[in-house]
Amino acid sequence: MRRLIIAGNWKMNKTIKEGEDLIVSFKRRLYNIENIDIVLCPPYTLLSSLSDMLISSNIKLGAQDLFWENKGAYTGKISASQLKDVGCQYVIIGHSERRHYFGETDEMVNKKIKAAIKSALVPIVCVGETLSQREQNQTFEVIKGQIQEGFKDFSQEEIKNLVIAYEPVWAIGTGRNATAEQAEEVQVYIRNLLAEIYDKDIAQGIRIQYGGSVKPENIEQLIQQPDIDGALVGGASLEADSFSQIIEKCIPFS
Ligand code: PGA
Repeated sequence: MRRLIIAGNWKMNKTIKEGEDLIVSFKRRLYNIENIDIVLCPPYTLLSSLSDMLISSNIKLGAQDLFWENKGAYTGKISASQLKDVGCQYVIIGHSERRHYFGETDEMVNKKIKAAIKSALVPIVCVGETLSQREQNQTFEVIKGQIQEGFKDFSQEEIKNLVIAYEPVWAIGTGRNATAEQAEEVQVYIRNLLAEIYDKDIAQGIRIQYGGSVKPENIEQLIQQPDIDGALVGGASLEADSFSQIIEKCIPFS
């Protein structure tokens, strides 16, 4: 059985003080969760202080992006080894906001995944279709392209610990989540695709999260689906109660 993974993406929110306060609440409420991987991805400015607070905690640290070069004259960029150095274990790659606002391509996603794996960071790779792509019945085709291009030239060994987040763009930050059935349909498609590209065992082992307006009110339905192995949570991860409730509601399915 795949271990559930719930990750919080704080995006461009929280000062250091606000982030620290939230961590105090999470630690108090979630300290005894053992069977679910919990990951928080705050902005870069909070990584150092939160990393200290999370030492020997069951909550792991992740970043929201990285640059593929290891070091050098790349103003404004942060490398995988720097993230590792500050205590990150995970990194989100190819989030739809990066793809759409910052022009990130599948080729760039591919380079970022490579860099993350090389530094022993677990990539959480986001894929998903826009509303117009869904309406034109292009969902599977879009996902296929993102996975084939993004995962180009990886060995089974490299790919096997990576996490995928299926995030329909129309569901992100809109309050309109995909139904459990809509999400499961795509998650199954992704798993079958992985089986085709790699093999069945690899596909069965890779964890696929759902993301897009996940809330305490909808997590139970989503997490019951056999191919949904967790959630990537945006807005609802910014408050102690909603994020904790999402995780607590997953316990019976872990
Ligand atoms: P949301 O964001 O939960 O606020 O919809 C999800 C995400 O962007 O990962």
